[in-house]
Amino acid sequence: MVDFEKIKEELRSLLSSVKTSKELQEIRSKYLGSKGVIKELLKKIKEIPQEERREFGKKVNQLKEFAEQLFKEKEEEIKKVELEEKLKKEWIDLTVPPPKVLGSLHPITITLERIVEIFKSMGFEVEEGPEIELEEYNFDMLNIPKEHPARDMQDTFYVNKPGYLLRTHTSPVQIRTMLKKKPPIQIIAPGKVYRRDDDPTHSPMFHQVEGLVVNEYANFRHMKYVIEEFLRKFFETDMPVRFRTSYFPFTEPSAEVDIGCVICKQEGCRVCKHTGWLEVMGCGMVHPQVLENCGIDTEFYQGFAFGMGVERLAMLLFGIDNIKLFYENDLRFLKQFF
Ligand code: DAH
Repeated sequence: MVDFEKIKEELRSLLSSVKTSKELQEIRSKYLGSKGVIKELLKKIKEIPQEERREFGKKVNQLKEFAEQLFKEKEEEIKKVELEEKLKKEWIDLTVPPPKVLGSLHPITITLERIVEIFKSMGFEVEEGPEIELEEYNFDMLNIPKEHPARDMQDTFYVNKPGYLLRTHTSPVQIRTMLKKKPPIQIIAPGKVYRRDDDPTHSPMFHQVEGLVVNEYANFRHMKYVIEEFLRKFFETDMPVRFRTSYFPFTEPSAEVDIGCVICKQEGCRVCKHTGWLEVMGCGMVHPQVLENCGIDTEFYQGFAFGMGVERLAMLLFGIDNIKLFYENDLRFLKQFF
């Protein structure tokens, strides 16, 4: 005699303590597998006397269905628990800030962001232009005539496409902005520029930030205030600033801006070549011809502009004496700017 109820009871109590899919699989093959308890019972049918066979077969099938149902329920239960555990283990808190070790900002990026933030706080907007620029915007429209030395093959990288070059300064963004927008204009234009120049203070690729203000009342005093304010915020010191007469084809009058040497405090050092002064940018009142080239009515509007080299400012800010350090990706250098 086979006690079917007992088998069911055993199975039920066995399964009640099962916790993993693996354990469940083992018990399943013990009961439902090809050599399992139920298969063995089915094989026994032959030995059962004829009159009891039907009843026995029915009981075995019931047991099989019972077992299958029980395994199915248990499997679902385990899967649910396992999924919950997996989710608990793999939960990611997206609000945790990334660890610092992921990297640091490049000193040029730090300097650029510093410049941009200061000008933004003074109400300037940021404009950008392409690095492969029209010769017309880089030179002609900025009042730089064909025979001007700045156009010399030694200074400019030309590209294969006629009429295009790698911009030698960010000033063409002035042109792009004035062609696109009506005054009042108050923008800065940060970006990469290219020149055939290579020594400890010059690199063939470097960064500039251009500034342009065009409105009905812009004047030299206004420009002087903006530039002095910027420089004192940038260097976080109240050093002297002077404007020295200079020449740029796109401004009239033009000036170069010097600051009292931030390295030696005007005592005289190698960086300021013992003059006590450092040249930091060029500026001037936008030449009326440039405004007119862009369709701006000089009866009503005037403007001022300025342009600075970012590497130069970064070298002064951080006390770096060789521009090449910015481009060599030496971690011993880069790690100093966390
Ligand atoms: N574009 C000049 C250069 O690369 C810098 C400059 C000078 C820009 C005077 C200006 C400016 O906007 O007014 O040397």
